[in-house]
This record gives sequence, C-alpha cells and structure tokens, in this order.
Amino acid sequence: MKRRKFLKTVMGISGILAVTPFVPIKDYLITNVSFEFTRQKIGNINELPPGSRKIYTYPVTGNPELDGDPFRKFLLLRLPDGSLKSYSAVCLHLWCLVDYKSERNQIECPCHGSIYDPNTGIAIRGPASLQFNKTLPEVKIEVEENGDIYANGVVGVIGYGKEGAV
Ligand code: FES
Repeated sequence: MKRRKFLKTVMGISGILAVTPFVPIKDYLITNVSFEFTRQKIGNINELPPGSRKIYTYPVTGNPELDGDPFRKFLLLRLPDGSLKSYSAVCLHLWCLVDYKSERNQIECPCHGSIYDPNTGIAIRGPASLQFNKTLPEVKIEVEENGDIYANGVVGVIGYGKEGAV
C-alpha cells in the first residue's frame, strides 16, 4: 500500500472513532448487530400495579455479554390508567438508559435531562426533544387471557436519534 493511501485509510478509521467519543468500540460493535425480535414472554400484568414499571431484556439469548447489551434493555410500563406500554430504554440523545418515574408519570434520562411522554415515547423536553427523531422505539405487546405479557417485535431503530441528530 502506498504511503498516501495508507494515511487516507488511517485517517478514515480515526474519523469514524472521532464521531463516537462516548461509546467504547467494543460496545459500538456489540450494539450494531441486528436483532431478531421474536415473541417472548416479558411478565404478567398481575405483577405490575398501575403506575409501575419493569426493566427487561429483549431478545434474550442466554449469553450474559449479549444480554447485558444496553440495546437489549426495555421498559415495560403500566400507566396510571392501567394501560401497558413498552419502549427501548436507550435515550435517543447519547444512549444513556432512561427510566420511568411514576411520581411524575414520565420517562426521564439521568444524563442530560431529556423527558419522554410515557403515552407516546416522544421526547418532550431536553436535548432528545430537539433531535430529528425524538420517538423511542416501541415494543409490540400482546396480553393473553391469563395476564401473561409478550413482546413481539419493535417498531423503530434503537439509538437512531443520536445518528440522525440535526
Ligand atoms: S443521553 Fe439522555 S439526555 Fe443525553
């Protein structure tokens, strides 16, 4: 390889690294696998009183490293009116994990204060609300007669907001 071409290649790689300063390269590689979102039991409605939440892994693989990936972490919410919602827990700003705060009935990011509406998953305050994509990916939920809750696919691209920031 000629020196100029070699330098171009090195500069290209360092450019890629430079645009992802907060994500270790190992995490970056893990989170860019494509998931197959199969149907998976994620809980039972009787364990979730109105105004509560559960954090779950989806899709579960049985591999602790893969299952620990933040991009596999989701919130299952039972809103005060009894309805169920489920969203990716990855903030659309810089990928911190968000959580549901029942006392304020909102989804909050501890890093830079983004707030999401739990009814829609849309960021309503903070840096995530200023991005091109401001809606958390939503899990399609099914509830069986015995109260078992299943996840069956995700609508949206996890972490897309950071990539699509304007
Ligand atoms: S990472 Fe959530 S507001 Fe910045």
